[in-house]
Amino acid sequence: MTARYPVSRPRRLRSLPVLRSMIAETSVQPRQLVLPAFVAEGLSEPRAISSMPGVVQHTIDSLRRTAVECADAGLAGIMLFGLPEEKDASGSGALDPDGILAVALREVRAEVGDELLVMSDVCLDEFTDHGHCGVLTDSGLVDNDATLRAYAEMAVLHAEAGAHVVGPSGMMDGQVGVIRTALDAVGHSDTVILAYAAKYASAFYGPFREAVNSSLSGDRRTYQQDPANLRDALREIELDVAEGADIIMVKPALAYLDVIAAARAHTDLPVAAYNISGEYAMVEAAAANGWIDRERAISETLTSIRRAGADIILSYWALEHARR
Ligand code: PBG
Repeated sequence: MTARYPVSRPRRLRSLPVLRSMIAETSVQPRQLVLPAFVAEGLSEPRAISSMPGVVQHTIDSLRRTAVECADAGLAGIMLFGLPEEKDASGSGALDPDGILAVALREVRAEVGDELLVMSDVCLDEFTDHGHCGVLTDSGLVDNDATLRAYAEMAVLHAEAGAHVVGPSGMMDGQVGVIRTALDAVGHSDTVILAYAAKYASAFYGPFREAVNSSLSGDRRTYQQDPANLRDALREIELDVAEGADIIMVKPALAYLDVIAAARAHTDLPVAAYNISGEYAMVEAAAANGWIDRERAISETLTSIRRAGADIILSYWALEHARR
C-alpha cells in the first residue's frame, strides 16, 4: 500500500457549507442577545448619536416600538438607559418615580409583558451633572457607601416599575448585596441581578458618553478596574456571587475575551458580556469606509464573544443580528 500524505486532512470538513455548519461549535441565537437602548426625556423625535451610526436616543414611543420588535425577533431582553433633562450633583432624577427611566420601564413592561426581559441600568452617571457613577465626597471622590444607598433605592424603584432584571454597573463595593437585601425586603425576591462584576476603566466607552449626554471630566479609574488585571476580575466575580448575583457580566468584551474565558471557568453562574459602544463604533466606522465587510465583522465579533464563554451578549447589533 502506498503511503498517503498528509494523513489528516482537516480541510475535508470545510469543503461544503452543510459540513461546516454541521460541525460548528458556536452559534449566536436570538435568545442569547440583549439590546441596550437609550431613552431621553423631553424628546419629540428620536435623536441620532453621531459616534454610533444607527443607534439613537429614543422617545418613549420609539422605545416602545423597538421593544416590540425585540420581542418579535426573539431576543432575550432590552437593557434601558435613561437620560434626564436635568442633571444634578446627587443624580436625584434616578430616584424619581416619575423620572425618565422609571417611566420608560413601566411603559416597556406594559407593552411586552413577559415576552421580553425588561432590564435596567442601575447607576447614577446618566443622572449626575459631574458624570460620575455615584455621589461625591467633599474632596471629589466617589463616596462608595452613600452611593450604595442610592443604588438600593434605585433598584427597588426599577423592580416596582416592572424591571425583570436590574443591572448594577457602577462598580461600588457591596452593590450587589445591598440591592439583593433591598429587593427582598419589599417582596421582589424574584427580580434578577445581572451584576457588572468585572468592569474595566476603558477608552472604548467613548461613544457611550455621547449617547448619554455625559458631562464627565476625568475618568473612572478610582472605581473601575485596571485593564492590566485579570485576578482582580476573578475576585470581583467571587464577591458578586457571594453577595447574591444571578448572572455576572464582563465589560468591555473584545479586548477582554480572556477575562470572559476565565470568568466562564471560575463560576457556574451564567456569564454575560457587553459588546460596548466603542466596539460598535470601530466596526461601523471601518465598514462605512469600505475597509471591512460589515455583516461578516458583526457576526465574527458576536461569535468570538460566545466562543470565549459568554452565554449572553449585550450588543447594539442584537436586533439586526437576530433578524438575520
Ligand atoms: C455606566 C455604564 C457605562 C456603560 C454602560 N453602563 C459607561 C461607563 O461606565 O463609563 C458603557 C456602555 C458602552 O460603552 O456601550 N452606567
